[in-house]
Amino acid sequence: MALRPMYYTRIVGGTLYLTGFVLCAWNIWMTAKDGAPVETTVEVASEVKAAAEPSWVAVALGKPVLLSVVVTVLACSVAFLPPAVSVGVIVVTVGLSIAGAMGFKKARVGGGAASWHHVIEGRALPFTVVVVLAVVAGGIAEIVPTVLTSHAGLATSANKPYSPLELEGRDVFIQEGCYVCHSQMVRTFTWEVQRYGEASTIDDSIFDHPFQWGSKRTGPDLAHEGGMRSNAWHYQHMMDPRSITPGSNMPPYAFLASSKLDFGKTATKVKAMKTLGVPYTDGDVAGAKDSASAAAEKIAAGLARETGQDVAPDSQMTALIAYLQRLGRVPEAPQAAAVTPVVPVGGG
Ligand code: HEC
Repeated sequence: MALRPMYYTRIVGGTLYLTGFVLCAWNIWMTAKDGAPVETTVEVASEVKAAAEPSWVAVALGKPVLLSVVVTVLACSVAFLPPAVSVGVIVVTVGLSIAGAMGFKKARVGGGAASWHHVIEGRALPFTVVVVLAVVAGGIAEIVPTVLTSHAGLATSANKPYSPLELEGRDVFIQEGCYVCHSQMVRTFTWEVQRYGEASTIDDSIFDHPFQWGSKRTGPDLAHEGGMRSNAWHYQHMMDPRSITPGSNMPPYAFLASSKLDFGKTATKVKAMKTLGVPYTDGDVAGAKDSASAAAEKIAAGLARETGQDVAPDSQMTALIAYLQRLGRVPEAPQAAAVTPVVPVGGG
C-alpha cells in the first residue's frame, strides 16, 4: 500500500513519455506533409583531407586506455583486500577516475587536432573490439564463478528437489507470471533480512530451472513463504486477495481452483528436471504420478475441512499451494541414502 504514491508518480511520468511519442509522430507527419521537392542546384565544397590520423598503436596505448586499465585493476583488487585497505583503494580509484576523466576530456592524440575519444569512435573495428571486451568482461565476471560453483553446489547442497506436486505448482507459478510481481531473492541488506528473513543463497535455487528470483516486487518477496501461512489462507488469498488483505494490488486467481492438471504428464516433467541435473532417481520419475495425486488429495482434504470448499485435488490450486508451502523450507526427507548428483548435460 505504501507504494501507491509511487505508482501515481509513474503514471505521470509514463504519460509524459507517451505524450512525447505522440508529439514525435505528429512532428514527422507535419514535416513530411510540408516537404517540397528540391529542384535547385547546390554547390558543395569538397572536404580538405585532414592531417594524418594517429596510428592504431598510439590510440591503443593512449593515456585514457592506460588509465582505464589502472582503474579497473584497482577496482578489482578491492575484492581481495582487507576491508580497511579497500576503503582507501576505493577512494583513490574514484578520485583517479574523476581526475582522469576531467583531464582527458580535451586530450588530443599525438598532437593532432582530434580528441582521443573522437579518433577511437571514428574507427569502427577497434571501437567495436573495445566495446565487446568491456561488455564481455562484466558477463564473464558474473557467469564464470556461478558455473564453476554450481557443480560443487549440487554435490554439497542441503536442499532437496521439489516433490512432483510442488514441481507442478512451480509451473503454475511460472505460467501465471507470479514472478512479475514477486521476487524469490532476499538480498543481504539489513532491511531486507529484517523484513523477509535470512538472505538467499545459491543453495535455495540450486534445483530451479529456471530460477524464480524475479526482478520487481509489487508484492512481497516469497523466498521464505513456506509455512508462514496456512493452506486455507493461501486458498482464500488466491480466490480473492482483497478479502484477506484489504486494498491488495494482487489480482484474484479463483480460476485455478477449477483449472485441471494432468498428473499423467508429471513424470515427464520430473524426467526433464533430471536431465537438467536435478538428482531425481528413476523411482522418483516412475512414482511421480502417484506421489502428486496423493499429495494433492491431502491438500484438498485439508482445504475441505478448513474452508468447507470442495477443491478438486488435481486442480492447479492445490499444486500452487504445495509449491508456496515449500518455498524456503527443506523437507525432512525420509531417504537415508546419499543423493548422487547428476552432472548436467551440456555443461549446465
Ligand atoms: C500485480 C502483481 C501481483 C501478481 C501478478 C501476483 N501477486 Fe501475489 N501479491 C501481490 C501483492 C501486492 C501482495 C501483497 C498484498 C496481499 O497480501 O495480497 C501479494 C501477496 C501475495 C502473497 C502473500 C505473501 C505474504 O505471506 O504476505 C502470496 C503467497 C502471493 N502473493 C502469491 C502469488 C502468486 C502465487 C501469484 C501468481 C499466481 C501472485 N501472487 C501474483 C501482487 C501480485
